[in-house]
Amino acid sequence: MRVNIRRLTVAGALMVVFWLAVMYSSVIDVPGALSSKNSVQDIENRIDNLQKQVEQQMTESNLLLARVKEHLKAKSQAKEEGKDIKDNNVEYSLNNLVLPVLLIACDRVTVKRCLDNLVKFRPNKDMFPIIVSQDCGHNATYQVIKSFADDDPTITVVQQPDQSEIPLPRVKVKFRGYYKIARHYRFALNHVFKTLGHEAVIIVEDDLDISQDFFEYFLGTYPLLLKDRSLWCISAWNDNGKKDVIDMSHPELLHRTDFFPGLGWTLRRETWLKLEAKWPEAFFDDWLRDPQNTDGRACIRPEVSRTFTFGKIGVSKGLFYDMHLRAMQLNMEYVEFTALNLTYLLKDNYDEALASTVRALPEMTADEVIAHPAGGSPPAVKVTYSNAQTYQKAAKKLGLMDDFRSGVPRTAYRGIVSCFVRGRRVYLAPSFQWTKYDPTWG
Ligand code: UD1
Ligand code: MN
Repeated sequence: MRVNIRRLTVAGALMVVFWLAVMYSSVIDVPGALSSKNSVQDIENRIDNLQKQVEQQMTESNLLLARVKEHLKAKSQAKEEGKDIKDNNVEYSLNNLVLPVLLIACDRVTVKRCLDNLVKFRPNKDMFPIIVSQDCGHNATYQVIKSFADDDPTITVVQQPDQSEIPLPRVKVKFRGYYKIARHYRFALNHVFKTLGHEAVIIVEDDLDISQDFFEYFLGTYPLLLKDRSLWCISAWNDNGKKDVIDMSHPELLHRTDFFPGLGWTLRRETWLKLEAKWPEAFFDDWLRDPQNTDGRACIRPEVSRTFTFGKIGVSKGLFYDMHLRAMQLNMEYVEFTALNLTYLLKDNYDEALASTVRALPEMTADEVIAHPAGGSPPAVKVTYSNAQTYQKAAKKLGLMDDFRSGVPRTAYRGIVSCFVRGRRVYLAPSFQWTKYDPTWG
């Protein structure tokens, strides 16, 4: 029995030791404890990573937010500066728009032809009242105009009251007509802006035909004149408007020009008040072509003219009419200008686009342009000039007018003349860094 108890005690002790050993190993034993320690580390690492990712995302989101804020700020600034054409002010001016037509007449009874077309194509009588200003005191012409005014209260006639002879030195007598025209324009524009108080006016002469979309053209482009302070006029005329040098498939295309085209044009009151103070005694159109008189501002002109002059016999000689004016193309396709986006004509968009287009174009000589009709390639090229002589040579070759006024070539914008010859767009461009026109050219 004694032995058995001892054995039992030993066995019990052994079991306790074994149990303790098992327990101990379960607490501190090697492999299991090591892996759980690793997973804690893992989790900590992952949390660290997550935190880093969240921080990175926060930084990115903040950057994004800053960019969005910057964009919104720039947008509202652009709107304030008037880069967005139809902002509230312009919208207001357009909703209340009255854009009268001022018709300059003298002694030609054919003013009827002009009035007939104005009446025929006028989309809205109240929006486009017609004011005829007559010079010359010619009764037969007055009667023609009066017959229109008698029938329609939105057509009125006023007569230029000062019919006195303008005293001129002998050498200038042959230019008398130009003195009378400048005097008449001063009276007529003062009548429209000062007496009648209009905001803007479309000016036409008594020997102009107009296109069907003449009024739509001036309506659609008027917001440009309101918004873009670097513009002072919108004209319906392309001085290089002959069939052979325009793209008839793009009657909607418009351009900026530094050369005042006249012959159907819109002028605002605020510009008139500045011009009137220094208005010339004669040759008002060439005077308006001197950048000094218009603060270097530009006009809009169409690819395809919206007016045509049938006045062969007038103040200037009929030779110019037969050589150039007779061949001018009047637009025949109605374009809905009020539905078009014309923001490409705003200075900020236009200047950079034109410069980079011309910079990137392949070069050809005027002779090559004429000798190789496009056939699709290249669709556009530049022809460069370096002085007045090389300009005139290239212009003549291409079929363009080659004259200058105050150093500005006809239809030029920042020294570049854009035309369409033998199936391709051609830019006659300076080979040098252009900064301004040289008045000694021409
Ligand atoms: C040219 C221009 C014309 C410009 C004029 C002034 C062309 C095709 N024409 O006239 O746009 O206005 O030079 O430099 O480039 N008139 C008067 N009083 C007169 C004589 C004429 O008011 O004593 C009026 C006419 O009615 C007409 C305008 O002035 O509306 C131009 O006269 P016109 O005889 O047509 O001369 P252009 O040689 O065409
Ligand atoms: Mn004329």
